[in-house]
Amino acid sequence: MSKKITRREFVQTGTAVGVAIGGASAPVFGKAPALQTSSVKPVVVASNNGNVYKNGGAQTGVQKAFNLITRGTDVLDALIAGVNNCELDPAESGVGYGGLPNADGIVQLDSCCMHGPTKRAGGVAALEGVRTPSLVAKAVLDHTDHHLLVGKGAQDFARNMGFKIEDDLNTEKSRGLWLEWKRRIDPEHYLDPKKRGQASHMAGLSMVRDGLIDPMSYYGTINCDGVNAKGEVCGVTTTSGLAWKIPGRVGDSPILGAGLYVDGDIGAAGSTGRGEANLYNLCSFLIVEQMRMGKSPKDAGMEALRRIQKNTVEKRLLNARGLPSFGISFYIVNKKGEYAGVSMYGATYAVCTENGPQTLQCEPLHPGRATD
Ligand code: GLY
Repeated sequence: MSKKITRREFVQTGTAVGVAIGGASAPVFGKAPALQTSSVKPVVVASNNGNVYKNGGAQTGVQKAFNLITRGTDVLDALIAGVNNCELDPAESGVGYGGLPNADGIVQLDSCCMHGPTKRAGGVAALEGVRTPSLVAKAVLDHTDHHLLVGKGAQDFARNMGFKIEDDLNTEKSRGLWLEWKRRIDPEHYLDPKKRGQASHMAGLSMVRDGLIDPMSYYGTINCDGVNAKGEVCGVTTTSGLAWKIPGRVGDSPILGAGLYVDGDIGAAGSTGRGEANLYNLCSFLIVEQMRMGKSPKDAGMEALRRIQKNTVEKRLLNARGLPSFGISFYIVNKKGEYAGVSMYGATYAVCTENGPQTLQCEPLHPGRATD
């Protein structure tokens, strides 16, 4: 794991994150580059957005994380540097700064991270005002005896750790989309709660259909997992959560075993998609356990998707085929450097290996789309 940092270094990292992590320089948390010899081929896997956003730099998230890992940076620090690309890039409206806000127009962020070699973890939920919740999650791991801090407590902790707290993490784009959602939902606000919930969902989906929102941003999240040549495995997940959620709603992303699980002896798994479905089934934990029993990353992931399908029984969550009417994907890597992306329906995921960054097709459980 990375060296213990001084408070001064930490404060610099928290307040100047856009420069220290968003730029090409090595992160403050990293170890010095070192030659590595092992049979494990390093790899980084992530949700599709891991190979899209560069935050004005030259590298996508998986590229950045992979390059840092192969230069000897601690795997978790490298992965967090990778997801910082998504958190900080104003064009990414599902993660961090500019993530789609909750029903009150406030951006609330969730994240967790796990360090396989040291078996430590940290998380934050419903955090407001900090662009990089993944770094606050890492600070929980580094500086506390706890795993999960939420809401005002999480923000107070971040402030005390030297993170910059901003009044509003909306961008012009996320604020504009929230206003459009309000306009579409407003006539329904006085219905009974069930109808209002449905109307809210329908308004959100209609904005996806109208091309205003990237479907990936509706539950927008990045999960990123990696292994270095020594077989050290880590993972991080960070999100602005479900668009227009009830304030205080926390999804799967910051919950160990759901949005992320890492066992340094086995591998890592994390998710994007409908968090509630994952929370009911703790799929990241399930996937790691399946790998422990000998399954490949792909087979372990497919088992989790089948579990979600089996436990999805409410009619409102089923499509015309009687299958789950939502998307959910898992990104998986084992200690040997084998990896997979799996999804309920067709989706893509990001990978970086010695061959460079790639966007690959996830293995789908079902053909077609969630809405078919
Ligand atoms: N998977 C992200 C969320 O449901 O919040």
